[in-house]
Amino acid sequence: MKITGETKVIGIFGYPVSHTLSPLMQNAALEALGLNYIYVPFEVRPESLEFAVNGIRALGVSGVNVTVPYKESVMKFLDEIDESAGLIGAVNTILNKNGRLKGYNTDSPGYIRSLHEDAGFDPKGKTILVVGAGGGARGIIAGLLLNGTSEIVIANRTIEKAEEIKVNYAKICRRKHIQIKTAPLSYLNDPQILSSVDLIVNTTSMGLEGGFPDVDFSLTSRNVLISDIAYKPPLTQFLKKAQGAGRKISGGLGMLVYQGAISLEIWTGRKAPVEVMKNSLKIFLNE
Ligand code: ATR
Repeated sequence: MKITGETKVIGIFGYPVSHTLSPLMQNAALEALGLNYIYVPFEVRPESLEFAVNGIRALGVSGVNVTVPYKESVMKFLDEIDESAGLIGAVNTILNKNGRLKGYNTDSPGYIRSLHEDAGFDPKGKTILVVGAGGGARGIIAGLLLNGTSEIVIANRTIEKAEEIKVNYAKICRRKHIQIKTAPLSYLNDPQILSSVDLIVNTTSMGLEGGFPDVDFSLTSRNVLISDIAYKPPLTQFLKKAQGAGRKISGGLGMLVYQGAISLEIWTGRKAPVEVMKNSLKIFLNE
């Protein structure tokens, strides 16, 4: 990589940020496209977030990704919010257009694109069981609502959080005639629910503690797709169990890659080299 007087800067804001895989995959993509850009991590302390956002303007940084814990709090410092990011209430991508900052959410379309491209799954008209009701679930549910899903069941340990998502999306659900139901985690063994769903997605952070949602896969339809948004390890315990039961699976690496690909397309206007991005991560994760 050759840094010159014309090199443009893209980056990622987070705290901490050292765990991020985005610089690896984005720099591989920028190099493959022959673009004179560099993508760097910025560890932004909470008290410095507003200064950091102003720094994008002051330094002419082309754009940034935003990761935990700033996806919601960064929004108030931006000039414009894209419609779906507004619906979700979270921004993971900022574009600097001559000093005007616009916020986007590419996690949500990134997940939908990974369903299409990696698993050949179109959420249109489908019934989907979302396990978990945190930030990840919120983005995925918005993506499903915007892509024609007909019914969503949210199962979560804390039922109030599932209810909150349902209330947040009530308007769009009414407009699009989509039904959201909420359920406790015990429903993951309910034959009626399990046999009626086309996709089950795990959005919980249970894997970080060595656990996973206890779904009885033998009660699901043979054609169900089982997906996990976690990508470390690429084959999570949840997916391993589903695969063992003979069900189709789709891992979280795809969502990571496609959210990055859509961000790159927003910043550069070029089509992202998705395979290059995916391979850079696979090599790193030793898949
Ligand atoms: P993220 O923003 O990554 O989605 P989050 O907002 O902390 O993370 O959400 C984590 C999700 O994992 C929540 O749905 C959480 O359930 P609660 O809403 O009941 O907290 C779920 N989760 C985490 N650990 C869990 C566990 N041990 N058992 C069941 N659910 C768990």
